[in-house]
Amino acid sequence: PHLRMDALDGLLFEGVPLQHIARETGTPVWVTGAGTLRARYRRLAEAMREAGLGARIHYAIKANDHLAVLRVLAAEGAGADVVSGGELMRAVEAGIAPERIVFSGVGKTAEEMRLALRLGIGQLNLESAEELSLLSGIAEAMGAEARVALRVNPDVDALTHAKISTGKAGDKFGIAYADAAALYARAAALPGIVPLGFAVHIGSQIATPAPFRAAFERIAALVARVRESGHAVRMVDCGGGLGISYRDEAEGSPRAFAGAIAATLGGLGLDLAIEPGRWLVGPSGVLLTRVIRVKQDGGAPPFVVLDSAMNDLLRPSLYEAWHGVVPLSAADAAGPAAPAHLVGPVCETGDTLARHRTLPLLTDGAAVAILDTGAYGAVMSSTYNARPLAAQVLVDGERWAVIRPRQPVEALWRDESVPDWIGPASP
Ligand code: LLP
Repeated sequence: PHLRMDALDGLLFEGVPLQHIARETGTPVWVTGAGTLRARYRRLAEAMREAGLGARIHYAIKANDHLAVLRVLAAEGAGADVVSGGELMRAVEAGIAPERIVFSGVGKTAEEMRLALRLGIGQLNLESAEELSLLSGIAEAMGAEARVALRVNPDVDALTHAKISTGKAGDKFGIAYADAAALYARAAALPGIVPLGFAVHIGSQIATPAPFRAAFERIAALVARVRESGHAVRMVDCGGGLGISYRDEAEGSPRAFAGAIAATLGGLGLDLAIEPGRWLVGPSGVLLTRVIRVKQDGGAPPFVVLDSAMNDLLRPSLYEAWHGVVPLSAADAAGPAAPAHLVGPVCETGDTLARHRTLPLLTDGAAVAILDTGAYGAVMSSTYNARPLAAQVLVDGERWAVIRPRQPVEALWRDESVPDWIGPASP
């Protein structure tokens, strides 16, 4: 509904013709829809409420951490899930109250822990006994109290891409299920530590509620066991992972997700929280790109070389991810659909957006939108091949604004220096 084809204006994102943005800012350019973001946040929050869960929503900012995105979601009531000192500072910079921030991640440094405690964030999700000991020492030395949840690895199969599964035994994440109860008891006895409960996150782009349910059942059993042994458990953080529809798969259902939480953890008198990333922002963004040239290669489908590449959108190269591609207007489609390989200009065979994709005929200069790139898109960009970071635009109903200009190429070497002894390029 946020994206539709208009006979006159071409592809509209909310109320803005995308061809205007492509023309005025140049390509490649990431476009995020603020109205779409708000609508998705409200759908998710409503599903939680309808299931009778007063769950707090901590947006996993790794998915898209632009300040404007954070501000839009924070204004809707979102807190943040962060995984680095940098993300923590970004969330604070965007105006998210520290007590609404949760710090996750397997490798928090002592410095990051100090920063978190100094800012007084809501909660740290700990992933190992080693991390717990370190945090206790740091909190004690600072005279602070660290509110913590233990992230448990429930050993369930999330049925997703291996590179984004996080809750199987053998994945680097979380505390082994069998060790969690004992470590919680230890946490309760440590100075500087206030154990609140448990956290679980089994992976990303999960399409069906079954893996969630299996994980939450195990956490519910753990909560019961720990309570029986006399320890208070006040909260469970149910993680993120809800999938979206990139191709023809069904979009993960907020209702079914909320239902899985309600059925397993709902009746236990717990404060509940979730950490969604992709579901909120993925469909709220597109990447606009233009055909540099079509390279005809005797017989085989032609290579359509785009001006965006794996340095911009890494997902197809890294996960064989599928993203929809739509011409921006009738003028960008020169003829009937035919198979093509869509590639970028980067010098790697893996720099392929789509192979054997049947699309309306694309010729030199045609502009297309790559769909569902709002999550894990711009945030995973690099400047490989000295390609400056692409511009970013925010659309909001009929309005739009550049929220990050295209990086000037000089910025790529501005912070580099050559030691004196190297001498000039030509002696
Ligand atoms: N919480 C934790 C602890 C996480 O590790 C993640 C994602 C989330 C929440 C949010 O998950 P989501 O709701 O977005 O599925 N770059 C990959 C995805 C990596 C996900 C990492 N962790 C991709 O492009 O598919």
